[in-house]
Amino acid sequence: MLDINIPDGIIKGIISGKKDKNQKNEKVKLDTILIKNEEVLQLACYTDKQVFHKNLKSEEVSLEIIRLLTEEFNNAELYTKDYIYSYRITSKGKVLSNKRKSKEVSLVPLSHNKKKNYILEDGLLVPALVDLGIQTPDGKVTKAGYDKFKQINRFLEIIDDSIKDEKELNIIDFGCGKSYLTFILYYYFVEIKKMNVNITGLDLKEDVIDHCNEIAEKYGYTRLKFYKGDIAKYKENNDIDMIVTLHACDTATDYALYHAITMNVKYIFSVPCCQHEINLELDSSNFHLINKYGILKERFSAILTDAIRANILQYYGYKTQVMEFVDFENSPKNLLIRAVKTNNSKNEKIKEEIEALLEEYKIKQTLYSLLFTKE
Ligand SMILES: C[S@@+](CC[C@H](N)C(=O)[O-])C[C@H]1O[C@@H](n2cnc3c(N)ncnc32)[C@H](O)[C@@H]1O
Repeated sequence: MLDINIPDGIIKGIISGKKDKNQKNEKVKLDTILIKNEEVLQLACYTDKQVFHKNLKSEEVSLEIIRLLTEEFNNAELYTKDYIYSYRITSKGKVLSNKRKSKEVSLVPLSHNKKKNYILEDGLLVPALVDLGIQTPDGKVTKAGYDKFKQINRFLEIIDDSIKDEKELNIIDFGCGKSYLTFILYYYFVEIKKMNVNITGLDLKEDVIDHCNEIAEKYGYTRLKFYKGDIAKYKENNDIDMIVTLHACDTATDYALYHAITMNVKYIFSVPCCQHEINLELDSSNFHLINKYGILKERFSAILTDAIRANILQYYGYKTQVMEFVDFENSPKNLLIRAVKTNNSKNEKIKEEIEALLEEYKIKQTLYSLLFTKE
C-alpha cells in the first residue's frame, strides 16, 4: 500500500485516472449523504454502465482511499470543509500532493440563500428531498446536496416560466436516477400549485426506481410513478405534454428527444451530458489542431452534438433555445435545451444545414439517425 496521509473530515471527492485501461471501475465519487439524520461518506463506484454504492465508517475512509490509489486509480481530489487536497500517483509510483483553500459552502439553511435565486420559498421543506439527502429535516440544504439543489431549483424555475397557462400536464423524466428533479417538480406542481399533474420517472436502475417508488408511496404521491426501463425501448403514448432530462448520459438524451418529437410533446427541457458519440467518431486526422487536445475534442464534440439536437428540434417546429441554466462551477454540464412546440411546419433549410454539418465532419448522430435514417 502507498504511504499517503489522508486528512480527516472528508466531505466529498473524486478519484479517477484508471491505472489499467481494462479495469472495470471508471471512477469513484465520494459524497456526504444523510442516513437516519447522520452524515455518512458514501462511495459511488462507476463502471461503464452501473454505479455501485458503499457507505464508509469514518475509520474506513482513509484506508479505502489509499487502497484505491494503490490499486486502481492515479488521481484524487478530496474536499474537507476548509481545504481541497489533490493527489497524483506518477508512473514511477511517487505520490505528488497539494492542498489549497476550499471555496465550499457549509451546510446552507435555505433561509441563508437569496430568495431571488430560488422558486421555492425560503426555508420550505420538501420532505422527499430529506429522504434523498438533499435537505435536513429542519429545511437546510446539505453540503453534499447543494449543487443538485441549485440545479433542480433553476430547472423548475425555467419550466415554471415556460408554462404559465397550463393547468394539467403529463410529464416524463427520462433517466430520472435518484429523482431529485422529479420529486421537486411533483412537489411544486401538485402539492404547492395544486395543478393536475402526473409525473413518470424512467431509469435503467432497478434499485433507484424501487427506492423512488417507496418515497412516493410514503408521502402519498399518487400521481408520481417510477418505472425501470430503457429510454430507447419506451412505449410511446400520445398523452405526454412535457419531457425533462437532467444529465441523461450520452445518447440516452437522443432517445428521449426522439420520443418527444414523435409523440409531438409540447415542452422539452433537456440538460445533456457525456456526449461521447461524436467524440468517438471524430477522425483525429481532421481538425488536428482541436483533436490533439482531449478536453478541446470533448467540448467540441459536445457542442456539435447539442447544435445538431437543437436544430433538429427547430426543424420540427419547436422554438428552441440553448441556455446556461447554472454556472460552470456548479456543473460543467450546464447547458439546457428548452424547446416549445409552436408550429407543425418543417424547415427544410435547417435539415440541409444539419446534413451538411454531418457530412463535413464525417459523423453520425443518434437523434438524426433515429428520425431520418431508414435502416
Ligand atoms: C447522471 S444520472 C442523472 C440522474 C438524474 N436525472 C439526476 O439529475 O440526478 C443519469 C441517469 O440516466 C440513466 N440512464 C442512462 N441511460 C439510460 C437509458 N438508456 N434508459 C434509462 N435510463 C438511462 C442512468 O441509469 C442514470 O440514473
